[in-house]
Amino acid sequence: MDALKLLLERRSCHALQVPGPQGESLRTILRAGLRVPDFQSLRPYEFVVAEGEGLDRLGELFAQAARAAGKSDEMVERAKRMPHRAPVVITVIARHKASQIVRPLEQHLSAGCAVMAMQMAALAQGFAGVWRSGWLMFDPTLHQLLGLRPDDQIVGFLYLGTQGKPYDKPLSDPEPAEVTRWL
Ligand SMILES: Cc1cc2nc3c(=O)[nH]c(=O)nc-3n(C[C@H](O)[C@H](O)[C@H](O)COP(=O)(O)O)c2cc1C
Repeated sequence: MDALKLLLERRSCHALQVPGPQGESLRTILRAGLRVPDFQSLRPYEFVVAEGEGLDRLGELFAQAARAAGKSDEMVERAKRMPHRAPVVITVIARHKASQIVRPLEQHLSAGCAVMAMQMAALAQGFAGVWRSGWLMFDPTLHQLLGLRPDDQIVGFLYLGTQGKPYDKPLSDPEPAEVTRWL
């Protein structure tokens, strides 16, 4: 797929179905995540892939976190089902590395770039996806269950699969001038 077409026409897809990326396609997606701008080559991120039974395991962790946060039974059940909204879910963690030069924000930005890069690598291979967040991203129990360290932060849950239904809204195309100024 043409790179500019991908960047200018990319969309997120919330209705994801099988097949999801597997094998070499998934490896290509993960490699794209490793190719992001990374000051001092700190690799300040970690990817946690859930597919197949991994989605059940991730759902169980979400449910445990929801229970610990005192959510209602309905919310606990909903949390458990969340990962099953796609065949593959990649949790992207900004893994902070000690550095005198690269501040935490810069490291978090690298991790955020990894989410976008992986989403684009999925689209380029004919898959679809959406970058999700929500309260679980900041939940201390989920952080603990996933083995995060104190300075780590989840920056996104990247849901990947095949587009399940046509997009209902046309592409919105704002004018660059709305958010740009020249000095
Ligand atoms: C950091 C971040 C977190 C997001 N979290 C959610 C989310 O939890 N749920 C959601 O529906 N969209 C979320 N989005 C927005 C979608 O990924 C997507 O960009 C949005 O639906 C607009 O669609 P588009 O990408 O096709 O323009 C998030 C985006 C970012 C950058």
